Amino acid sequence: MAIRVWYFLVLSLVVPTIVLALDLAEADVPAIFIFGDSTADVGTNTYLNDSLARADKPFNGIDYPYSRATGRFSNGYNAADLIARLMDNDYERSPPPFLSLLENMATFKRNLLKGVNFASGGAGILDDTGNKTFHRVISLGEQIQQFSTVKPNITGIVGADKADSLISKSVYLISVGSNDLFDYQIYNSSNMSPDTFITTLLQAYNNHFKDLYNLGARKFGIISVPPIGCCPFERLLNGTGGCFVAMNELAQTFYQSIQALLQQFSLDFQGVKYSLGNAYFMTMNIIDNPLASGFDDIQTACCGNGTLNAQDQCSPSSKLCPNRDNYLFWDRFHPTQAAAQLAALTLYAGAQEFVTPMNFSQLALVHI
Ligand SMILES: *[C@@H]1O[C@H](CO)[C@@H](O)[C@H](O)[C@H]1NC(C)=O
Ligand SMILES: *[C@@H]1O[C@H](CO)[C@@H](O)[C@H](O)[C@H]1NC(C)=O
Ligand SMILES: *[C@@H]1O[C@H](CO)[C@@H](O)[C@H](O)[C@H]1NC(C)=O
Ligand SMILES: *[C@@H]1O[C@H](CO)[C@@H](O)[C@H](O)[C@H]1NC(C)=O
Ligand SMILES: *[C@@H]1O[C@H](CO)[C@@H](O)[C@H](O)[C@H]1NC(C)=O
Ligand SMILES: *[C@@H]1O[C@H](CO)[C@@H](O)[C@H](O)[C@H]1NC(C)=O
Ligand SMILES: *[C@@H]1O[C@H](CO)[C@@H](O)[C@H](O)[C@H]1NC(C)=O
Repeated sequence: MAIRVWYFLVLSLVVPTIVLALDLAEADVPAIFIFGDSTADVGTNTYLNDSLARADKPFNGIDYPYSRATGRFSNGYNAADLIARLMDNDYERSPPPFLSLLENMATFKRNLLKGVNFASGGAGILDDTGNKTFHRVISLGEQIQQFSTVKPNITGIVGADKADSLISKSVYLISVGSNDLFDYQIYNSSNMSPDTFITTLLQAYNNHFKDLYNLGARKFGIISVPPIGCCPFERLLNGTGGCFVAMNELAQTFYQSIQALLQQFSLDFQGVKYSLGNAYFMTMNIIDNPLASGFDDIQTACCGNGTLNAQDQCSPSSKLCPNRDNYLFWDRFHPTQAAAQLAALTLYAGAQEFVTPMNFSQLALVHI
């Protein structure tokens, strides 16, 4: 496996160095299918003309090759890219967005066999999450619907047996939930108590897992909700610059519930293997010990404007921080590439307190 020098630059005590020497050629992961929200979107929303959740303008992408704004909500690569890269040497970044594949039929088949990214910024577990704020996003349900259309195409290329094998051995990476909580905070259109809301959310998530399972998915890499109460946008809402406590509580409850859900899911459905990343704990670990993790600013957005640089989204007229690698937040909602890299390394090779019951490198090695 190609070890890139800059992986080491962001290594903290969290990650044992030795794992980087692991040769994952033996990990039989034919493809990676990625679902979720802006933490994993690699350009989906740039294909949605009427979506307001987009990152296709500078300064987004300023540290991406050729400083291209690709639709990633980041200064560079995002967690989906960096995890794909760790999982398999063949990936320079995440597989391409589904909607980009549809536009280029010439490369459609070749690309398909290494995976697809369906993630859409602003999307959530619930079908209408993000719709009010961003007009058009592709919900997790619709993403799974898109995946179901890809399965016959894979069968068409390699035949039914090989397609079944490819689909069951592949890793299904899902990073979603934050937008559901944001919408609950802003609209509370269901008028549910926090506990009832989380229960509703988890029931919907459970149905999505079942749908993926019925389509043949077996290996799930799940990333839970980070302490969204500490993002610059929420600190601004707090008024004193502190974290918005109620949102962090929701994020913690979400994690506990999904941990129980996945335990049950893997008991009820034969052959299910999963890794659950505790994004809450990982990120809090950085916020509580910024310097140890290489960050000197954990509350201001690097790209934005006004108080905490959180009063505006990242745009070509934004104020930009000079030292992007030392910021936890790229814009008022999203982590920098440096933070995403630390998260990817922790998910990939971290201890059980961060990712349970096994880390992503172990998930990759599981034989299906
Ligand atoms: C989006 O806009 C492009 C260029 O204007 C157009 O060709 C395309 O049909 C539009 N797509 C949708 C889904 O409206
Ligand atoms: C999202 O909003 C649009 C326009 O407001 C509406 O046509 C569409 O049905 C909504 N979708 C969902 C899933 O609520
Ligand atoms: C993929 O499958 C869909 C649904 O079966 C079909 O409509 C489409 O033509 C296929 N695409 C390719 C490139 O084979
Ligand atoms: C949403 O409404 C319900 C019922 O009025 C209330 O109990 C709950 O606290 C509200 N949630 C938020 C986040 O405002
Ligand atoms: C705002 O932050 C302060 C300081 O951390 C905290 O004590 C307070 O509870 C927070 N307020 C809300 C509404 O979360
Ligand atoms: C950024 O904030 C400054 C001062 O608060 C203001 O003058 C300027 O117009 C803002 N720029 C944008 C793009 O919002
Ligand atoms: C995480 O993965 C590595 C392999 O990359 C493994 O050696 C290690 O034991 C795992 N850590 C824990 C705590 O499970």
